[in-house]
Order: sequence, then structure tokens, then C-alpha cells
Amino acid sequence: MYKIAVIHGDGVGPEIIREGMKVLEVAGDRCNLKFEFIPYDFGGDRYLATGEILPDSAIEEMRQCDAIYLGAVGHPGVAPGILEKGLLLKLRFSLDQYINLRPIKLYQGVETPIKGKGPKDIDFVVVRENTECLYCGVGGFLKKGTMDEVATQEAIYTRKGTERCIRYAFELASKRPRKKLTLCDKSNVLTYGHDLWQRTFKEVAKDYPTVECDHAYVDAACMWMVKNPEWFDVIVTCNLFGDIITDLGAMVQGGMGVAAGGNINPVGTSMFEPIHGSAPKYTGKNEINPIATILAGSMMLDFLKEEKAARLVEDATIKVLSEGYLKDLAAGKMGMSTSDVGDLVVKLMGNGDGK
Ligand code: IPM
Ligand code: MN
Repeated sequence: MYKIAVIHGDGVGPEIIREGMKVLEVAGDRCNLKFEFIPYDFGGDRYLATGEILPDSAIEEMRQCDAIYLGAVGHPGVAPGILEKGLLLKLRFSLDQYINLRPIKLYQGVETPIKGKGPKDIDFVVVRENTECLYCGVGGFLKKGTMDEVATQEAIYTRKGTERCIRYAFELASKRPRKKLTLCDKSNVLTYGHDLWQRTFKEVAKDYPTVECDHAYVDAACMWMVKNPEWFDVIVTCNLFGDIITDLGAMVQGGMGVAAGGNINPVGTSMFEPIHGSAPKYTGKNEINPIATILAGSMMLDFLKEEKAARLVEDATIKVLSEGYLKDLAAGKMGMSTSDVGDLVVKLMGNGDGK
């Protein structure tokens, strides 16, 4: 029995999470797993109604859960930054989810905008540090609103935070067939913070002699991800660069409709989510693509070490993508509703006897 906190969030969040839970329930039935879903209504609507974003008591409850399944956060009526910091980043930081794991995998049947590249060329993972860098919220204003205004925003890198992230990436790379790890940084300019990354990377590398080490400056990495995505196997990078390159990665793998991610604390409570946002204009229309959320559910199963259930979900989703069921991955253009796609994944999971 797994206890899963569910934060459906704003906009299309409830619709996609509903399909995700539907798929997880059935995968659970097939594999003798039970899920207790504990719903939380945190998000823009609740904030506007009550002023509350995420009370500490809820964080403590979620800490006791096996995982968190998150829909989407972002509300047109709430100023940028409030929900991001108060909900999403607060969860990542409080639960010390220090890895943001984002597979960039082009599934069969999905179109990449990159000419001449196919599924064999696009299959890598970005390991994004998830608790430090420019995301730490250190900074301030001086003489705000005047012509003499000064604003500072500091990037914090700690040895501990850098090392645990790099170690996670080496561990992951050492278990993949290609065993290649690319450090993506801007050490030619960030000569303090990313010098720490460089030194830490070289030290940790000594513990992983089977992993081939590689390096790319982040600007060049953006270029190579488009020009030669087949060069990458695992990329490790800081929080901000990871944020940016994984949106690029999502496009390379065929769009936000299929991009999923995990916020991982290897010894705590991790959180799984689609990378796309709350897409307010599609709210309640049953037109949004739930595939990214369903794949986030499969990542969650992997993390819970329920590999059989994870493959059941992923394989059924791959079938949906590769066997031409969807006209397009974009919202409103799938030729199917959100709930139809969820039903289809369930149907393609078969009856549990491999049929
Ligand atoms: C992401 C998002 C968040 C981030 C935002 C919503 C704070 O873009 O998960 O990539 O910047 O990490
Ligand atoms: Mn992002």
C-alpha cells in the first residue's frame, strides 16, 4: 500500500491528474499494489479564496507519504512568483528534493522538430540540481523604485549540494548502457560557483571509472542538443541551466505533451509532475494531453521500485504514441479527449496476463 499525496493544482491540473490516477489504479490492480491517494487542493484558487498557499502542517503530512503526484501550478489571477515560490519551490526545498530528473526521450511515433533525427538519436536524461543556484531566493533591493535602485540576486552553490547532485548523476550514468556523463556549466564565466562544480565533478569521477566524462558550456550544450542530440546520455547541471535546457529538451523530444519530470529525494519523499504548466485556456475542456502526467506516474512507480508496474504504464503509453492513435500531441488537436487518452492507456495495459 502506497500513500500518495496528490496536488492537482490549477488550470488543467485536475483533468490530467485524474487520468494519471486512473492509470495508476489499474496498474496497481495488475501488479498487486494499492494506492491511497490523499488529495490536497493547494493552488491559485485556494490562495485567492483563503490567502493560504502551503501550510507547514501539510508539508509534514506529505513528508509521511511515499510520493507526491503534482498536476500543474500557475493561475492567471495570481502574480508570477507567488505560487512558484510558495508552493512548488517550497515543496522542493522543504522536502530536500535535490534532484530534478528529466528524461529527454523521443518515443517511436512522436515527431521531433529536428530534421533527420529519430528515437535512436534522442534518448538522454538531464539531472538538474534542484535546491541551490539562483533559485535559493537570496538577494534584495536597495532604493527600490528610484533611479538609484540596486537589485541583487545571488547564486549559492555548496560543496555538499553540488557533490550529492553530481554523485547521483554518475550513479545513474554508470547504470545506463552508454555510461557517458556531460557536465554542463558556464565555468568560463562563473569562475567561483562553477569552478566548484568542475572540481567536484573531477573528484567524484574518480569513483566511477566506467563512466566516460564529458563537458559542455551551457550555451554550446543548447546548440548540440539541437544539432547532435545523440551525443548526450546523462547531463548534469545547476538549477537554472537545468530549468532552461529541459524546456529545450522537451521540444526536442516532441513537445510538452510528453515531457515528465521527477523531483527526487533519494531518501525522502519525491514528487512527480508533467513539465508543462497549467494551460488555463484549456481548463475544464477535456482537451489537454494527459500523456506527460501519465509518464510522470510511471517515473513515480520506478522510483518506488515497482518496475513491473512502471513498464506496464510506460509500454501502454508508448503504444498510444507509436500506433497512431493520436492525430497530434497538442491540446485540442489530439482527435481524442483527455479522458479518452487515459482510457486508451488503461485498455492497452491489457488484462495483466500480457494480453
Ligand atoms: C519547472 C518550472 C519551475 C522552475 C517554475 C514554475 C518555478 O519552470 O519546474 O521547470 O523554474 O523550476
Ligand atoms: Mn521550467
